Amino acid sequence: MKPSLSKSDASDASAAPDGFDASAAKISFRGAGKTFPLKQGEFTALDEVSLDIADREFVTVVGPSGCGKSTLLNLAAGLAEPTTGQVLVDGAVVTGPGPERGVIFQQYALFPWLTVRGNVEFGLKLTSLSAAERRRKADHAIELVGLADFADALPKTLSGGMKQRCAIARAYAVDPDVLLMDEPFGALDALTRVQMQDQLLDTWTRERRTVLFVTHDVDEAVYLARRVVVMAARPGRVHRVIEVDLPYPRTEELRLSPEFARIRNEVWHAVYHQEPAGSVAPVT
Ligand SMILES: Nc1ncnc2c1ncn2[C@@H]1O[C@H](COP(=O)(O)OP(=O)(O)OP(=O)(O)O)[C@@H](O)[C@H]1O
Ligand SMILES: [Mg+2]
Repeated sequence: MKPSLSKSDASDASAAPDGFDASAAKISFRGAGKTFPLKQGEFTALDEVSLDIADREFVTVVGPSGCGKSTLLNLAAGLAEPTTGQVLVDGAVVTGPGPERGVIFQQYALFPWLTVRGNVEFGLKLTSLSAAERRRKADHAIELVGLADFADALPKTLSGGMKQRCAIARAYAVDPDVLLMDEPFGALDALTRVQMQDQLLDTWTRERRTVLFVTHDVDEAVYLARRVVVMAARPGRVHRVIEVDLPYPRTEELRLSPEFARIRNEVWHAVYHQEPAGSVAPVT
């Protein structure tokens, strides 16, 4: 049996994974923008994004390098403050990071002096869990990402992909309501990547979790999501939101289907054949 992430067995497994309540936004970007000061003037990294992500929805974000994907995620994580507008989670304005939002960074951020287990347990130290329970949760998450044999290893002895899996385990262990993932599988080889995608979907299917997932891989964006947000650069903004009208569970067969290819091509076109700023119809 595939290991699952904690709460799963207790949750309503009969509910359709995409059977969320679209009227209840879990994450709301309301005219959220971000400018950075320059020596002369300022740079608009993100230009007033308005986007609602429903409770339990899986949304992926794709777009050219520098279009503001990480900035968007950082606003939801509370690691950066918007210079215009607001970001709300569960109806409350985000003012900083919180344990209900698990973040996986584009650059795996591990403490070099802690072992894999130490890194994964770190996020649990802020909780009221006993040491034994922390250990159990950490070991479960480590097993889930396939690092059980390396629980006592230091990060410097791991490959890039293993470090990234350790960072993923750290976020999974805390069991957050919202997962904010910034190119989490970018450093993984093709096979591990597909396995991690399926595992993430498996977990998401069982648990009530909302996922905002940044990737530069169009196939990955379509395979995982119910909606793909395509961003455009200069200024960073939402260019299009494309529905992925494919059933869950997503399978290898589905990945090879003409319907998948059609949506993939649509997203690909939206990413790589963008019209210049100003000529794009506003997103509704
Ligand atoms: N702290 C900062 N100061 C100034 N400019 C910044 C800062 N952080 C990001 N930027 C700029 O904002 C823009 C968006 O950056 P961001 O990291 O969000 O892009 P991205 O879409 O995640 O790119 P990538 O795909 O390469 O990860 C970029 O042009 C970047 O140079
Ligand atoms: Mg980025």
